[in-house]
Amino acid sequence: MPGFTDDFLDEVRARNDIVDVVSGYVHLEKRGSNYFGLCPFHSEKTPSFSVSPGKQMYYCFGCHEGGNVITFLMNIEHYTFREAVEKLAERCGMDIPQDAYGESSKKERDRKDKLREINKASANYYYLQLKGSRGKAGRDYFEKRKLSDETILHFGLGYSLPYSDDLYRFLKSKGYQDDLLKDCGLVVFDEKRGGHDKFWNRVMFPILDANGQVIGFGGRVLGDGQPKYLNSPETEIFNKRKNLYGLYFARRSREKEMILCEGYMDVISLHQAGFTNAVASLGTALTQEHCKLLSRYTKQVLLCYDSDKAGVSAALRAAPMLKEAGITSKVIHMDPFKDPDEFIKNLGAEEFRKRMQDAQNSFLFEIDQLQKEYDMGDPDGRTGFVQELSSRLTRFRDEVERNNYIDAVCERYHLEQGSLRRETNAIGEKKEEQRMRNVRFSASSPRMENREEGQQQRQKKGGLSRTQDLLLTWLCEEPKLYPVVRSYLSPEDFDGGLYREAAEMFFEQMENGQDDPAKIIATYQDPEDQKEVSGMFYSDAYETVTPDTRDKAMRESILKMKESSLERYRREHSGDQDFLSTTLKRQKELQELRRRKILQ
Ligand code: UTP
Ligand code: MN
Repeated sequence: MPGFTDDFLDEVRARNDIVDVVSGYVHLEKRGSNYFGLCPFHSEKTPSFSVSPGKQMYYCFGCHEGGNVITFLMNIEHYTFREAVEKLAERCGMDIPQDAYGESSKKERDRKDKLREINKASANYYYLQLKGSRGKAGRDYFEKRKLSDETILHFGLGYSLPYSDDLYRFLKSKGYQDDLLKDCGLVVFDEKRGGHDKFWNRVMFPILDANGQVIGFGGRVLGDGQPKYLNSPETEIFNKRKNLYGLYFARRSREKEMILCEGYMDVISLHQAGFTNAVASLGTALTQEHCKLLSRYTKQVLLCYDSDKAGVSAALRAAPMLKEAGITSKVIHMDPFKDPDEFIKNLGAEEFRKRMQDAQNSFLFEIDQLQKEYDMGDPDGRTGFVQELSSRLTRFRDEVERNNYIDAVCERYHLEQGSLRRETNAIGEKKEEQRMRNVRFSASSPRMENREEGQQQRQKKGGLSRTQDLLLTWLCEEPKLYPVVRSYLSPEDFDGGLYREAAEMFFEQMENGQDDPAKIIATYQDPEDQKEVSGMFYSDAYETVTPDTRDKAMRESILKMKESSLERYRREHSGDQDFLSTTLKRQKELQELRRRKILQ
């Protein structure tokens, strides 16, 4: 990954005080040397979200989210690492180093910036036309669709006048040259007529990317003309496969799930009714890229496609694609209405919320559809259904999950559990056999295995981890203790890959008179790792250390570390030549330590 230099990242962190940045999102109150507030990452009534100006880190004692100023922005805004760094750099007026952009040349970037600028200027222009003296047709249309002025402003909706080169002339008057305009997607050139507008006499829906920049438009005819919607063509800045309408707003909605629907108007109606977590793909079928994009923001999607046949097959197709991207999905039923826009207009937001609560598990939705293809009154029809159902149930490789689904479908279709289970297991075994035959020669990746193991280890956070957390937190709060601790412990005494690494980095910092755990977090890409490392510097055990118990707590912590480290040594080095002498030496050290006063 073409990246930022460490120096640059250090400066970005140094110039963006974490308390300032977090205060933009969370109301913080000072308590001791830290600040506390209600955690923005989980819901709670009493503050357990702590921000430390000294460490330049945050940590929630409730949900264990934690990190530095960059991770905070990544988590709260769902930015990528790069986006978060860029925003912070911008915030404090730093220039992004040119080489951080990797391949794309400066020229190319400038060009894209210009294209975005043109799209933005056009959105403003269309909005002004809608509001202006010649915009009545557009205003009437939106009124008919029950959109409020506030909604129109929020989404930046507009109107293109019924002239063929109105926007073109406006953009020319702003000084944009044809060679740029020909690529912005809004102007079409041909030999006879020269430049003219792609959109005219349509209500306009600007399309924003996830960061709020205008990258294209959809334009709807005012009446029944064809095509109903016209969209910007693909351009250097507009890729339909990678953008979702409404995402810029939905990503801030703070809802756990997102609502995925079909059209511009659906998204707008839903947002207007208070469901600000709705998005839609842009007149294309859902793509793998859309799913990946969504997975950055949510783990659960409510599918809200039209109730017609096309909508049903779109939902059937979307569910497994989302699953592939790690997103579970449910289906919202809107019958007897066609789409969420009509539903809300007829039954209102509260009824819609009920439908959301009643959303159906996508697998059961799929099986409902399947059942329609069989004559359930006929024994052969029933057998066919059960066989196909069993085959689909084998998708659930996890036994518990599979059994839960078996229970659910048995109840729903009045099937006999035992036989469905047998049928499913038989088909499952056959498939598994086939799979084994296919993968016999491709070895599994050792990296994946290590990773899973690491995660398991982290989950069962035992006594030793607590001790390691306490020591690291303590050092971080009282760096002057470092020479003492260092005389007993080295990073090798820390157990577990992440601990050892973090301790190595932290000890090195301390050697150099630094105390910057937020920098250690910056070295990890994986958010799980970042959380884990944050936790190491935020042990709640440190709060319980009092002047009376300090010495004892420190001695016991060091002892515990040394004991476990010795045990590890014995396990791993029994073949070494000096194994016995080293073991004895270390045991003796331990005994002395038990009697010693460590902190003055
Ligand atoms: P729909 O036909 O369901 O439109 O198309 P809609 O959202 O209900 O529109 P209204 O309520 O009649 O205004 C769903 C989506 O498919 C794309 C658009 O993105 C639209 O929002 N579409 C549809 C096109 O791109 N072109 C078309 O001609 C029609
Ligand atoms: Mn509609």
